[in-house]
Amino acid sequence: MFCINLKKYSLLLVLFAFAQLQFIYGDRYCYNNDQDPYIRFATKTAYNFVFDEKDPEEVPGCEPAQVWMLARHGTRNPSKDELGPLQELNPLRDQIIKNHETRTDGRLCYPDKENLKNWQLRTGKTIAATLTKQGRTDMSLLGSRMRTNFPSLFREGYREDRYVFRHTQKERTKESAEIFANKLFGHDKIVIPPGIKNDGLIRSYSNCTTWEDLMENKDGFKEYELFRESEEVQSLLKNVSYRLGFKYNLTLDKIDTMYDMCRYDKSWNLNEASPWCACFSKEELKVLEYMQDLRYYYEAGYGHDINIKLGCPLVKDMVDRFRALAKELEDGKRSSGTRNEQPRGIFYFTHTKALLMLLARLGIAEDEQKLTHTDYRSAREREWQTSQLSPFSANLVMVFYNCHGSQREPQVMMYLQGRKVNYKGCRVGLCNWKYLEDKLGPIADKCDLSFCEDGAGGASNLVFSQILVLLAVFFSTLSSRFLR
Ligand SMILES: *[C@@H]1O[C@H](CO)[C@@H](O)[C@H](O)[C@H]1NC(C)=O
Ligand SMILES: *[C@@H]1O[C@H](CO)[C@@H](O)[C@H](O)[C@H]1NC(C)=O
Ligand SMILES: *[C@@H]1O[C@H](CO)[C@@H](O)[C@H](O)[C@H]1NC(C)=O
Repeated sequence: MFCINLKKYSLLLVLFAFAQLQFIYGDRYCYNNDQDPYIRFATKTAYNFVFDEKDPEEVPGCEPAQVWMLARHGTRNPSKDELGPLQELNPLRDQIIKNHETRTDGRLCYPDKENLKNWQLRTGKTIAATLTKQGRTDMSLLGSRMRTNFPSLFREGYREDRYVFRHTQKERTKESAEIFANKLFGHDKIVIPPGIKNDGLIRSYSNCTTWEDLMENKDGFKEYELFRESEEVQSLLKNVSYRLGFKYNLTLDKIDTMYDMCRYDKSWNLNEASPWCACFSKEELKVLEYMQDLRYYYEAGYGHDINIKLGCPLVKDMVDRFRALAKELEDGKRSSGTRNEQPRGIFYFTHTKALLMLLARLGIAEDEQKLTHTDYRSAREREWQTSQLSPFSANLVMVFYNCHGSQREPQVMMYLQGRKVNYKGCRVGLCNWKYLEDKLGPIADKCDLSFCEDGAGGASNLVFSQILVLLAVFFSTLSSRFLR
C-alpha cells in the first residue's frame, strides 16, 4: 500500500514540478520559436531580408547601353569604437542569467535564456569593420546578378577603358569592389584604383567641414536626442529591464549595445536566432528602428538641407555620363561611323551616408512631413525607412537604355535593392531620359560644394578669436602688473 502511495506521490510530484515549469516558462512569448521574427534593423539589416529576387524586366525595343551603380559595402564586423561596449555584454549576460536562475525574476522563456547563456562575442580587434563571410556572399551575389541581368554589357569581357571601379579608403569597400568585379568578369585581373582620402565624389561629406561642424553640434541631432527621452523609449527601457529581471532600469546606452549585437548577429547568421534580439518585443524593435531612422534622417537625409546638397556630386557624375552616352548614340544614329567610347559600367563602393544623400538629392523616399521625435505613431507608414533604403550591400542601379525605331527616346531604369523605384514622373522605375535630364540636369549643373569650406573658415575664425582673447588676457595681466 505504502509502495503504491509513494508511486502516486512521486507521480504527483513530477506533475507538480512540470506545472511549475509551465508556470515559469509556459505561455510566454519565445523569440526562439517565432517563425516570423522582426528582421528590419535599419542600416544593420541583412541584404537578403530586403532585396527583390525577381529578374529585371526587358524594355521592349531597347537594349542596355550603360549601368551606373552606387553600392554600400557588404555586411561588416563591428568597428573599433563599437567593440568596447559589445564586450561589456559578457557581464550583462551573466547578470541576466543570474536574474533567471538564482532569483527567478527573469521573464525570458527557457530556450531564449539558454541561448543567451551560450552566447559569446565572436569578433576581435584585428577584424574591426571588415567584411564578414555573409558580406562576401552578398557582394558575390550582387556581382553575379549584375552579370546575368545585363549580359550584353559584359559579354566582351573586361577592358580597363570600359569599366570604372571606385571605392573609398576603407578595407570593406575595397574588398566589396574586388569581390563584385571578380564575380562580374570571372577573374581578378581588374584595375581598381586605391581609395582617395576625403573622396569628394563618393564620400562628399568627409570633405565638408561645414557638415562635420553641424554633426558635432548638439542641434544637428536634436530630434533624435529628444526621441531618446520620449515616452515610447522610456517605456521600452522599463519593459526590457523588467523582462530581463532587473529591479532597476537599464540605461539606453546598454539597450543600444544589445540592439547592435542583435542586429549584427542576425546579419552575420541569417537563419540563427540571436539571443539579444530575444530581449525585445516586436513593438520595441520598431521603436528602436524609428530611433535609427531619425538619426540617419538628420545625419544624411531630408532632415538638413546640407545633406541633400552633398548628394549632388553623384547626381552630376551620373547625369554627365548619361549625357555623354546619349550624345554618342545620337551622333551614331546620324552618321554611320559609330563612335563607341563611353564605359559600359560604372561601379562605386561606399557607405550608408553617401547612398542616403544621393537618394535625398534624387528625391527618393521623401515624406511630406518632416520626421520628428513626436510623431513615431503617425510616422509608422513613413517613406524614410533605412531598413529598406540602406541595408548592408544596398545598391542603387541606374540602367541607360538605347532604344530603336525613329521615335524612341533613350530610357533609364532605376533599381534600389533590385526593386524598381517608384520615381515621380516615371512609369514604375522606367523614366524617359529626356524627362530625367530636365529634372536632374539643373541639379548637376548647379552642383557646387564651395559652402563646405565656409565651415573651415569658421574654424580658423574661431582660432583667431581665441588668439585675440589670449592676447587680451596677456595685456590686461601685464597692465595690471604695471599699475601695481
Ligand atoms: C575637397 O574640397 C575642396 C574644396 O571644396 C576641393 O578643392 C578638393 O578637391 C576636394 N578634395 C577631394 C579629394 O575631392
Ligand atoms: C511596455 O509594456 C506596456 C504594458 O504591457 C505596454 O502597454 C507598452 O506598449 C510597452 N512599451 C513598449 C515600448 O513596447
Ligand atoms: C523605470 O522607468 C520608468 C519609465 O520612465 C519609470 O516609471 C520607473 O519608475 C523606472 N523604474 C525604476 C525602478 O526606476
